[in-house]
Amino acid sequence: MEQREQWGSKAGFIIAAISSAVGLGNIWRYPYVVYENGGGAFLIPYFIALLTAAIPILIMEYALGHRSRGSVPRTFQGLSRRFEWIGWWQIFICVVIISYYMAIIGWALSYTYYSIGTQWGNDPESFFFKNFLGMSDSFWNFGGIQWKVLLPVLLAWAALYFVLIKGVKKGIEKSAKILMPILVVFMIIITIRGVTLPGSVEGLNVLLTPKFSALADPKVWIAAYGQVFFSLSIGFGIMMTYSSYLPKKSDLSNSAFIAGLANSGFEFLAALGVFGALGFLAVQQGVGVENVAKAGVGLAFVVFPNIINEFPGLNSLFGVCFFGALLFAGFTSAVSILEPCISAVREKFNLTRKAAVNWVCGITFVLSLLYTTRGGLRYLDTIDRFINSYGIVLAGLAEVIVLAWVLRQLDQIRDHVNGVSIIRIGRWWNFVLAVVTPIILIIMTAFNLVDELKKPYEGYPMSGLIVMGWGVAALVIVFGWIAQSISWKDQAMTTGRDEQ
Ligand code: ALA
Repeated sequence: MEQREQWGSKAGFIIAAISSAVGLGNIWRYPYVVYENGGGAFLIPYFIALLTAAIPILIMEYALGHRSRGSVPRTFQGLSRRFEWIGWWQIFICVVIISYYMAIIGWALSYTYYSIGTQWGNDPESFFFKNFLGMSDSFWNFGGIQWKVLLPVLLAWAALYFVLIKGVKKGIEKSAKILMPILVVFMIIITIRGVTLPGSVEGLNVLLTPKFSALADPKVWIAAYGQVFFSLSIGFGIMMTYSSYLPKKSDLSNSAFIAGLANSGFEFLAALGVFGALGFLAVQQGVGVENVAKAGVGLAFVVFPNIINEFPGLNSLFGVCFFGALLFAGFTSAVSILEPCISAVREKFNLTRKAAVNWVCGITFVLSLLYTTRGGLRYLDTIDRFINSYGIVLAGLAEVIVLAWVLRQLDQIRDHVNGVSIIRIGRWWNFVLAVVTPIILIIMTAFNLVDELKKPYEGYPMSGLIVMGWGVAALVIVFGWIAQSISWKDQAMTTGRDEQ
């Protein structure tokens, strides 16, 4: 029987968990979400979301993975055969996310290179959309492969494959231990530079001045919950898989608090640096900060090159730091998005690690080619929006409802956590998961749905939203059901679960 892989040390696990959490979501998504949702006031719902949903779910996912010591579908199957599909649903969400996540990593890789000598020139906006992405003119015009995008994506895939094939300890843990310190250094350089630029105070004011009226807007709360789920890597199987590689005696609650707070620390650091730099750009161009801040993808690949162009010196160096940070943060998260798929396929079909890595990487690589076409940006934007709002959040909600209300497992899970952890979890945890989290997530989804139906996302054609948006979000559930109906080729590998 094949031995289950394990982390080399407790610190190794925590570093890997933090490196998964800290990703593209922290560096380009968080600053903009804060900006759009009332600046400083957003921090209140954000911390409430962190404490009342994200960390309790994180503790639950750590406990589930640690207890079953199996892949996500195996964990759900172990709880009840009827719910294996929830595990597969989360796996297919990972498949969808990784396929476009790799495209953004490919862009970050290119931009790290373009930073040398600020090769994007004086007009970073047309450089990004026209020259680099070569965007087609309409949604359904795929426009063929854009080689400039394909090449860096291929390189990123090669590096990812190399790490994954080496396994949990020698691949994932080792790469996190190398890349995380570099990322920390880059982030500190960006933040210090960002907050010391002339005019930075304008940007920081926007970030830190609370608009308390925003707290009455349900969308602000929705945004906070959405952000913490994506950012902490919960609701799509990652943390459950990572904790399944822990030795039996491992502190769980402490690790969850460390990972949760470290991730938020990174987010905040990134937001300070980015907003300081936005204030600087606004002052240079003589406009308000609201005129230079643009949505996610634009902020990183259009606005940042603009900011770097305006720097008085060391432009290339700061470009490399910013895009290098994006690249490394994204890369370690990409590793973590693929690992749940590898672990699931490996157990379901009784494969070696190498065979599972080949299958999973092969399939997801082919899917990622969609985003290297000239229409790729629009597909990425649509799929990202729908798989976050109706994939991760709904899968997280299903997980919580099934465990709290259908299988009534919360007491057992809490006992498991308290049996191995220094910080004991009280009954508040049950209440939060059984009552608070489901109510908020249901309301949040309802509001999202109403909004969605009122106004087509980004004005994209309905056919595009049906196929790439609703279609993809529904397909991952259908695939989950199909996967559940296939029998397990390996019944013996996850011995941990049977010993419970
Ligand atoms: N947690 C990862 C991120 O923030 C997926 O990008």
